[in-house]
Amino acid sequence: MKTILHVSCSPRGDAAESDKLAWKVIEQLRRHEPTAVLVSRVIGGGQIAHIDQDYAISQGSSADVSQDGTMARSEELVRELERSDFVVIGTPMHNLTVPSVLKAWIDHVVRARRTFTITPAGKVGTLRDRPVFVAIASGGRFSGDRARQPDFLTPYLKTVLAMIGLHDLTFFSVQGTGAGPDAVAEARAQADQALQQHFAGRRL
Ligand SMILES: Cc1cc2nc3c(=O)[nH]c(=O)nc-3n(C[C@H](O)[C@H](O)[C@H](O)COP(=O)(O)O)c2cc1C
Repeated sequence: MKTILHVSCSPRGDAAESDKLAWKVIEQLRRHEPTAVLVSRVIGGGQIAHIDQDYAISQGSSADVSQDGTMARSEELVRELERSDFVVIGTPMHNLTVPSVLKAWIDHVVRARRTFTITPAGKVGTLRDRPVFVAIASGGRFSGDRARQPDFLTPYLKTVLAMIGLHDLTFFSVQGTGAGPDAVAEARAQADQALQQHFAGRRL
């Protein structure tokens, strides 16, 4: 039986455009894997604290530190990620990049000597690769001809998740949510089309 891990990053709960899109991705995955188990990790309200002192020390050296606090939380989140077959991240763009809650999750799951090792050639991920879908909502546009802002979100996620072994990333987005209902309807329709195209006839 397959497991889908849904990481929900908006503070806006059920109203979140990013999560509406994430749920559409989950629906598509479930069409292919009807028995898949869904694990929900809601972090949009700041449920994951920032990393603590012991954790920071452990990342800079191999000193013995307490395995409580962030170390324990990190282990819980890493195991959750390891057990998943698909990951669906629903996230808004905040200040051109990932919201701080998603960065806090990343700080817990990207862990030296656990999810990556440091070699003379650079950092090497230890996780088995698996499909990761990222559903983004943004107030303005960050890709295409009408983009008026840089995108530090998608390149960052690609780079930091590759560092732990996750290379198979697919991005969907609803862009321009601040431009009024017509623009949102148009952006949703485009995202729906991209989803259909991506999953049509595909074996997962
Ligand atoms: C703190 C904050 C920063 C934001 N920064 C950006 C930004 O840099 N670019 C952008 O296009 N939208 C930005 N937005 C707008 C959100 O991306 C937009 O409202 C999005 O639809 C929220 O997604 P959600 O509905 O999933 O929460 C920002 C919103 C907040 C609250």
